[in-house]
Amino acid sequence: MEKIIIKTPEQIEGIRKSSQLAGQTLEFIAPFVKEGVSTEFLNQKIEAFIREHGAIPATLGYGGYPKSCCISLNEVVCHGIPSETEILKNGDILNIDVTTILNGFYGDTSRMYTVGEVSDAALDLIEVTKHCIDLGIQQVRPGNQFGNIGYAISKYAKAQGYSVVYEFCGHGVGVDFHEEPQVDHTSRRNTGPVMKPGMTFTIEPMINQGRPGTVTDKVDKWTARTVDRKLSAQFEHTILVTDTGFEVLTDVVGEY
Ligand code: MF3
Ligand code: CO
Ligand code: CO
Repeated sequence: MEKIIIKTPEQIEGIRKSSQLAGQTLEFIAPFVKEGVSTEFLNQKIEAFIREHGAIPATLGYGGYPKSCCISLNEVVCHGIPSETEILKNGDILNIDVTTILNGFYGDTSRMYTVGEVSDAALDLIEVTKHCIDLGIQQVRPGNQFGNIGYAISKYAKAQGYSVVYEFCGHGVGVDFHEEPQVDHTSRRNTGPVMKPGMTFTIEPMINQGRPGTVTDKVDKWTARTVDRKLSAQFEHTILVTDTGFEVLTDVVGEY
């Protein structure tokens, strides 16, 4: 039984436009990420930018989530909730995750930012995490199996002395926020469904300095932190399987 949606050319064009807007939002916010600003200030800037471009922030109201993006600081693995009392300080690292709905189509992407002078250890974690998503993306082509994405990511991350979060995954995306399949970032070689042209999904590895486990905040029910409070980093792109390989739909800097 095939539950993974093969998108039509019209759907792909819609997902591409939404994904480009999500990617542009991450570039737009970069100069505002500075010491002394609150994560809620960044959230408001992001919401205004998305709406000015005719789109809706997908996270707002999603399963009760209260904000227009996720901002995950330092030991926060994912789903950090922007707050007026959370003020960026020198040495912080953070992930901003934006999902747009444009004309009904979803684009989902996130990247890391640094504040002022960041430790070499934090910079190394970010660099390794970036290489992890790139290794995952290089596995995308028709005929390859989804498990090879997580295999490539976890093999490299572990060789660098880091651990891979297994409790949160990538996902099909495009006509809905979270579609089939689940895209694991730690998986066995040559397992999982076969990739086909027209599939769209995210790869979004979360890599930890210490142990892989996470704990979700008891009060806000969203914020996921590393169990040992060590640092975590993440990058995310929305990817299309093409006839010959991949297209990174959320890439706005011409990197891929
Ligand atoms: N954008 C996140 C993802 O990559 C999902 C956030 S859901 C929220 O899948 F409710 F926490 F916003
Ligand atoms: Co996602
Ligand atoms: Co996301």
